[in-house]
Amino acid sequence: MAQHVGPLVWICLLCGVLGILEEDYYPPTIDSIIRQPEAEDGECVFPFRYRSGLFYDCVRFNAKHHWCSLNETFQGYWKYCALSDHAQCAFPFWFRRMIYWDCTEDGEVYGRKWCSLTPNYNKDKIWKYCEW
Ligand SMILES: *[C@@H]1O[C@H](CO)[C@@H](O)[C@H](O)[C@H]1NC(C)=O
Repeated sequence: MAQHVGPLVWICLLCGVLGILEEDYYPPTIDSIIRQPEAEDGECVFPFRYRSGLFYDCVRFNAKHHWCSLNETFQGYWKYCALSDHAQCAFPFWFRRMIYWDCTEDGEVYGRKWCSLTPNYNKDKIWKYCEW
């Protein structure tokens, strides 16, 4: 039975196909996450262990949005990250021979501001860009 379908339907079909491709692209390791419902409350715990990695900020493995674990070692409790859930700069932090109380451009090739996510950048080398 032939039915008329408008262009929007085709666009959505295309979205669906692209969505499948996108999901195939990621390793299927996070399937367990998607099957678990998001926790209603709880705080992100950084760093958290997931599979063989240690993560200092929200991650996006095989998910459409950033998420975090609510336990130090991921146990199926998780939530999507709002802006306020992302890792916070660890002020003050050591970088080279100085202590920083604010985001800095020092040592950044493109002059973008960054901060350390642990108090000792020299040792841990965990960082993020500061968004402003
Ligand atoms: C993991 O985190 C959730 C949410 O905060 C909490 O309810 C649960 O008890 C935690 N699990 C363990 C083993 O601590």
